[in-house]
Parts: sequence; C-alpha cells; structure tokens
Amino acid sequence: MNEVAPPSPAGLRTRYCGTVGIADVGTEVCVCGWVARRREHGEHLAFLDVRDHTGVVQCVVDGASTLRSEYVVKVTGTVRRRPEGTVNDQLVTGEVEIGDCLVETLNESEPPPFVLGAPGQVDEAVRLRYRYVDLRTERMQRNLRLRAVVNAAIRRSMERQGFLELETPLLWTPTPEGAREFAVPSRHQRGAFYVLPQSPQIAKQLAMVGGVDRYYQIARCMRDEDLRADRQFEFTQLDLEASFVGEADVRAFVSDAVAEATESATGERPAAFPEMTWSEAIDRYGSDKPDLRFAMELVDVTPVLRATQFKAFMAPAVKAIVLEGGADLGRARLDALVERARGLGAKGLVWMRVVAGEVQGALDLESPVAKFLTPEERAGIVATALARLGDLVLVVADEHRTACEVLGQLRLDLGRPPVDAGPRRFVWIVDFPLFDGTDDEGRPQAAHHPFTMPHPDDLELFADEPLAVRAQSYDLVLNGWELGSGSIRIHRADIQRRVFAALGIADEEAQARFGFLLGAFRYGAPPHGGFAFGIDRLVALLAGEENIREVIAFPKTQSGSDLMTGAPGKLSQRQLVELGIRIVEP
Ligand code: AMO
Ligand code: AMP
Repeated sequence: MNEVAPPSPAGLRTRYCGTVGIADVGTEVCVCGWVARRREHGEHLAFLDVRDHTGVVQCVVDGASTLRSEYVVKVTGTVRRRPEGTVNDQLVTGEVEIGDCLVETLNESEPPPFVLGAPGQVDEAVRLRYRYVDLRTERMQRNLRLRAVVNAAIRRSMERQGFLELETPLLWTPTPEGAREFAVPSRHQRGAFYVLPQSPQIAKQLAMVGGVDRYYQIARCMRDEDLRADRQFEFTQLDLEASFVGEADVRAFVSDAVAEATESATGERPAAFPEMTWSEAIDRYGSDKPDLRFAMELVDVTPVLRATQFKAFMAPAVKAIVLEGGADLGRARLDALVERARGLGAKGLVWMRVVAGEVQGALDLESPVAKFLTPEERAGIVATALARLGDLVLVVADEHRTACEVLGQLRLDLGRPPVDAGPRRFVWIVDFPLFDGTDDEGRPQAAHHPFTMPHPDDLELFADEPLAVRAQSYDLVLNGWELGSGSIRIHRADIQRRVFAALGIADEEAQARFGFLLGAFRYGAPPHGGFAFGIDRLVALLAGEENIREVIAFPKTQSGSDLMTGAPGKLSQRQLVELGIRIVEP
C-alpha cells in the first residue's frame, strides 16, 4: 500500500507501536495502545505486546500481573536491541523491544469476546456483534486503511480530470432503476414517502442539464435486495457523469481513477484495460463478466454436429468446455456436474473422456452417448476443442445464450482461482444489448437502466427486433466481478419516450414517475454519459477478500441485520403515531 508514513504522534505518546525500530535504540519513547499479549518471564518480569493501528511492539515490564488482554495502556521506556536469538522476523519491530518500562493503565477491559490474533477461526457473527473489537485486528486495520487509500486516489484522479464533487440528496423520490428501494415516511406529509437513492443516477443527469459539466461523488447508495458476497444494502460508488462526451471518453475517465486507485493500493499501475464486446464475452466465457485469469474458453462444436443423429445435440448451438486432466473424475463427480447443469437451466450435460483411439496416435471420446455419435463427429469434437488425452469434455446443446451461460458457470465452478490468486485482469465489456430478454408479457426489459442511449445505428430495429438493439453502455470487470457500469444517456425527450414505450411504461406513468426528468429535457439537456463503480468491490478485490463485508467498517449480515446495534429495530408507538403509520402484523 502506498501509504505516507504516519505523522509523528502528538498527545499522550511520542511514538506509534509499529514504527519503533533499530534507529531508536537508546532513546526513551512513550507508546499507547492495547495489550495484545502478556507472557510471564520468571516471577516479576513480563513481556507485553502493545498494539495500536500501526502494529505491535514488545515491552519488557516489571510486575505486570494486573494487566490483561485489551487493557488500554501507556508505556514509557527505552528502546533496546533484543538479545541474540530472540529477534522476531515476522514483526516489523522484531529487532527491538522497549525496556525498563513504566506502564500506566488508561482503561481496563473485560476479557475480549474472541482471540484477536486468530484470523479465520472466529465465528463471523461474533466478529460482527463486537465489530469495535474486531476492527482492532491487523486484517481490519489494513482493509480500512486500504479503503481510505483507494478513496484518496480516486479523488485525486477525479480532481485532476476536472470533475466537480457534488452531493446529491439522500431523501429522494422513487425512480425505476431496478432494485427495490428503502422507503422513508414523511412526518410533515403523512402517507407520503421519500426513498433512499439506489444511485444518484437521475440527480447527476439533472446536474448535467444544470451545466455542471463534470460531476463526481463518492456516493452512498441503498438497495433493498438479496445480499450476497458482493452485495450489501448500503454500498459506495464512485459515481461520475460528464457532458459533451462519448463512450471512449467516459471509459478513459474511469480507467484513470481505477488505475490510480490500484497503483496506490499495490504499487503497480495496471496496463491499459482491454475491451471486449458483450457478444464475444458471452460466446467465449459464457458471462458478461468474464474472469480472464484462466483460459478454459467455451468452444463451439455446432458445425461439427450439424448433421448429427443424436437428438440431444440437435439444437441451435452446441458448446463445450475442456477440463484439463479431468478424465479421471469419478462417476459421482460427473453425475453432480450433470445435476449442476440442469439446475442452471440446461436440458442436460454430456461428459466425454478423451481416450486413445483405435488408430495409433488418434484420440477418441468415451461417454455414455459416444455410440450415438459418428467417429467423425467424435474426432471433430476433440479437434475443435483442442482436447488432449486425459481431458474431460463437457457439452451442452441449447439456445446459444443458455448453452453459453451454463458452461460459463461450470467453467467458474471447475476452474476459477481463489479471489486473491493470479494477476489482476481488468476488461471493459462494450456493446451491451439495450434490452435483456422479455418479461412474462413479452415486453423487453432494460438491460442497464431506462436512461441508456441506444446505439445510433440500431434505432430502426426498435419496432421489429428490439432484442437486437445495442446500447451505448459498458461495464468494467475485474477478475470476474462486475466493478461498475455506465452508459451514454438519452438526453432527448423523444428518444426517452420511445424507450419507455418499448419497456411498456405508458406516457402518463412516465410523467408521474419521472416527469421532472422529462421536464428537464425540455430545457436544453446536453449530450452526456457516465459511470459508477462499486468501491466496496474494488477494495475487496485489491485486499484479496472474498466478501465485501471485510472492507466495510460496519456491515450487515446476509439477512440484513446489524448484529452490533440490533438494527433493524422497532419504533415507539409515539413515533409511529407521529408518522401516521400502523403496523399490520403478517
Ligand atoms: P449499477 O446498478 O450497475 O449502475 O451499479 C454500479 C456498481 O455499483 C456496485 N453495486 C453494489 N455494490 C455492493 N452492493 C450492492 N448491493 C451493489 N449494487 C451495485 C457494483 C455495480 O457495478 N447509476 C448506474 C451507473 C451509471 O449508469 O452511471 C448504476 O448504479 O459494483
Ligand atoms: P436424454 O436423451 O434426455 O436421455 O439424454 C441423453 C444424454 O444427453 C444425457 O446424458 C443428458 O444429460 C444429455 N443431454 C440431454 N439434453 C442435452 C442437451 N441439451 N445438452 C447436452 N446434453 C444433453
């Protein structure tokens, strides 16, 4: 991490624990912190490890028997070299100790609810309940600092690029962006509600109409959605928007901020982010957020099977992946893979072991369905998939998108490296479709949000082939995580109405729900576009953490509870009356 050295401390202490070193030998220092560990040494002598946010230092203390773990202490003593053979290479301060210590207890502590130095062994519920203790651990201190370093880098980049920091309202009005919103009852206008913004999307577009030109905000967003490893109710975005720009300009702004943040966190500036179209990502990786750290790409065996007599393979697309050396997978594993594929929406999954063929040097496929395939078809699959002896080939036949997505997920199940492994592989996914499938009534669904500008060449496809309309939108992906998305926006009321109509949002409804936006478009809205990326996700990936909870100071559990405060909680009867709310028991 690219940190400035901590400033010299003021107040009660003269040094931070983690900064005491060889250069201090012979000087008197005073450190403050928590007792991390106490080891008795003979009858009167004890070693105290004292911890603050910078690290731990060993203090040699006379008669420390009243001091317990997590007591808050002030220690004054003289720095000296540790005796030969007691140097600790694991510790930055491991060559020295503070001797002849005078210890002042600033506060006592009950025995901590868990052992702080045992990462991974503590139940997460206990950590979250006592988050204020958990935050003292090295892991959490490191993650919080990393997050601050990332925020500072993002601000630097945005300021350098001429963006203006602007705060947008948290008490907002319902807008149709997709996720469910948190509602806030109004006391002054009983029966009316604000909502907490899912993102500052419309506010930033209005700022563009207002001539702000380049806006950014490290914005808190709230979405009432099902929580997962990369999702919290409250999260933070770098949100930006700029006027008179095209897609490439926006991507350049974002790339700079992300590169700056990554460099600050890791010391290495990533190379320019490559671009891949959405179609290519689906076709090669079965996902619009491909993890490029490993190959195992999807191959298209449709041409080989064009004339097949095997019923299951008579489908618009037949795709395959190769698991290197997977031929020795046992029957139970293989059956589980078939079940997994079915669970993901495939009609089935064919597995094929690559074995030696009858002809010397040739390869063949061994599979329960091998007999339904001609020798040419089997050889064609092996050749197209570039499979080798001992590999396992997995095949799904279906509509193109389904076949790709099912295999894309199996690819991840079977090949994905751990979060903290391998190089960082950023990629821009471009040319998303404007609509992503249809709802029960056959109406197209917005792939991003309904303010996304269609591709200018595709406007004519609106009526007949809406699903083929491309959008001017783009995602940034890192190691298989969607970091963020953005688009060029619709800035003309006529096109916005056309998109609303395609989405089945009637004129009156559009007027009622975001008349204020359509109204603004009547007063000279400039062309504009923007982006938002999840800072929690970026920091988690930079920290090598699998769950964004690890980089959020006070997160919620999977079920949305705050175990520390007990939120969500009940309101008093008086508060309910004031708000005009009656609780209906389920
Ligand atoms: P989108 O909805 O794709 O776009 O969100 C952008 C990014 O925000 C992060 N994110 C989340 N992080 C943690 N928990 C969540 N519940 C959560 N939801 C989203 C992700 C995601 O990629 N207004 C548009 C952006 C734009 O068009 O400018 C928007 O919010 O990293
Ligand atoms: P069935 O004809 O349903 O008995 O399936 C024969 C074999 O083909 C089984 O192993 C199925 O899992 C597999 N299978 C069926 N449909 C598909 C499909 N669409 N794609 C891949 N494999 C399939």
